[in-house]
Amino acid sequence: MNTITLLQPDDWHAHLRDGPALQRTVPDLANQFARAICMPNLVPPVKTVEEANAYRERILAHVPEGVHFDPRMVLYLTNNTAPSEVLKIKQSDYVNAIKLYPAGATTNSDSGVSDISKVYGVIEQLEEHQVPLLLHGEVTHNHVDIFDREKRFLDEVLSPLLRQFPKLKLVLEHITTSEAAHFVLEHDRHVAATITPQHLLFNRNDMLVGGIKPHFYCLPILKRQTHQQTLLEVATSGSPKFFLGTDSAPHSKDAKENACGCAGCYSAPTAIELYAQAFDQVGKIERLEGFASHFGADFYGLPRNTNTITLVKEDQVIPESLDYLDGEKIIPLHAGKTIQWRKV
Ligand code: DOR
Ligand code: ZN
Repeated sequence: MNTITLLQPDDWHAHLRDGPALQRTVPDLANQFARAICMPNLVPPVKTVEEANAYRERILAHVPEGVHFDPRMVLYLTNNTAPSEVLKIKQSDYVNAIKLYPAGATTNSDSGVSDISKVYGVIEQLEEHQVPLLLHGEVTHNHVDIFDREKRFLDEVLSPLLRQFPKLKLVLEHITTSEAAHFVLEHDRHVAATITPQHLLFNRNDMLVGGIKPHFYCLPILKRQTHQQTLLEVATSGSPKFFLGTDSAPHSKDAKENACGCAGCYSAPTAIELYAQAFDQVGKIERLEGFASHFGADFYGLPRNTNTITLVKEDQVIPESLDYLDGEKIIPLHAGKTIQWRKV
């Protein structure tokens, strides 16, 4: 198949940042997706519906003329979030969920939750009102190996949480392991997951063999190839529990190519083509539309988009770098490499 037309996809996990960064990130995302969940890990974080509405307006101010883009917002769960905020989310037109970052797990997660039992009051309300909890699913203890942090989170945090709150609606964000994929499959329809393009296309060898490639460094970190294969299987299986979430996260070239490089891959400008590449590599391009354009909207209880996009099987070279902020650069995911799909 050399041309495919699909309902316009949505990105259920993206980082846009704030201020001048929006000049880069909003057009890149809005040219690909009709909607995106805009992650709240700003400094300071987006903690209330009012703050989310204000952030949404700042995003909308950068949507290019003639482009329709509907930012969907998420609050950042802290130890101090009031349980009453959940009803405000439920009643909000723009906020769809709340995100749990274990404190210290990733970029700008210092205000995250230090112990999940501290937020049980909020979680009770989430379960009652069926507002999704989005999870960065990694434990953060220093002694736990970075490659084991997702699995340990499932065993030590998420399983007990679901025993306590069996009807909690949740998205395990950016899953990276077979264990996480199986965890999602074993639970009922309330439990879903997003998968990034980097975790479908690459594994830790791509990041570490022949020299360290900092532009593949993201969190949760790329795992071994067997996990990549499981992620490809579930993403292309047609199961509605797995849907598109790029975790596209801009960091300047200098911040990535650094003795202490930042975590995050910037995939927004060619995200759907990267996913097409991954699905096509395993002969499942016909499964892309469900993953990219149906299952996320269905999970969130939002209508599917009605307009379409077309992808053609034609070589495209991903740019070596992109302009960012004042004179800085971003190196996009798979920079300088050729992929076989292009959005027309
Ligand atoms: O690699 C990542 N980058 N993982 C995250 O969880 C956060 C993100 C960011 O905000 O840069
Ligand atoms: Zn993220």
